[in-house]
Amino acid sequence: MRFDILTVLPGLLESPFAHSILLRAQKKGIAEIHVHNLRDYATNKHKSVDDYPYGGGSGMVMMIEPFAACIEKLKAEREYDEVIFMTPDGETLNQNIANQLSVKGNIMILCGHYKGIDQRVRDLYVTREMSIGDYVLSGGELPAAVLVDSVVRLIPGVLSDETSALSDSFQGDLLDAPVYTRPADWNGHKVPDILLSGNTPEIEKWRFEQALERTKARRPDLLNE
Ligand code: ADE
Repeated sequence: MRFDILTVLPGLLESPFAHSILLRAQKKGIAEIHVHNLRDYATNKHKSVDDYPYGGGSGMVMMIEPFAACIEKLKAEREYDEVIFMTPDGETLNQNIANQLSVKGNIMILCGHYKGIDQRVRDLYVTREMSIGDYVLSGGELPAAVLVDSVVRLIPGVLSDETSALSDSFQGDLLDAPVYTRPADWNGHKVPDILLSGNTPEIEKWRFEQALERTKARRPDLLNE
């Protein structure tokens, strides 16, 4: 699977993909992540990527030319299943959408900044608009990293223990049960006896009950879907 991310701040995306599971997925050749600097596609002599909004108002608007030039170049090289624009007014990302995207081939992601991007970019090129939640960030880079992370870990072969993605909170209907590791007793705070019992069926039952209790307490909406 291949991601192409278009941004004016490529530096913001240097680190998120250079660690842990995302790095491993790239090393295994399962995922390719390419970051493109929109400034390299600026067409005027000042290399500007934004301009004042028509009609007045505060803030700058990202221009269509750098987006169009970069998108057209990439589209000439391969076909894209989705061109996603990260924006707080998009559809909210959830596990279902991450699952759907994890079986795609090529995905392009556009990061906005300033007051937004010229509406014609959205009208002409974007196939899907995604938000990572009801709050506003300074740009689409961190949301793009969140989207890529949520998708890449679901691609078969990325997680060494494939069942671990399947048992994630949100992958089923329930949140995860609590987990513990050594020491079994830390300053009198003990790990539940059941987890030390070696009785696998009873441990599974306990985990299910804990998951159910946690879901009822924190996210009852998940049980009513
Ligand atoms: N850009 C700024 N805020 C965002 C959000 N919450 N989700 C996606 N893109 C954004």
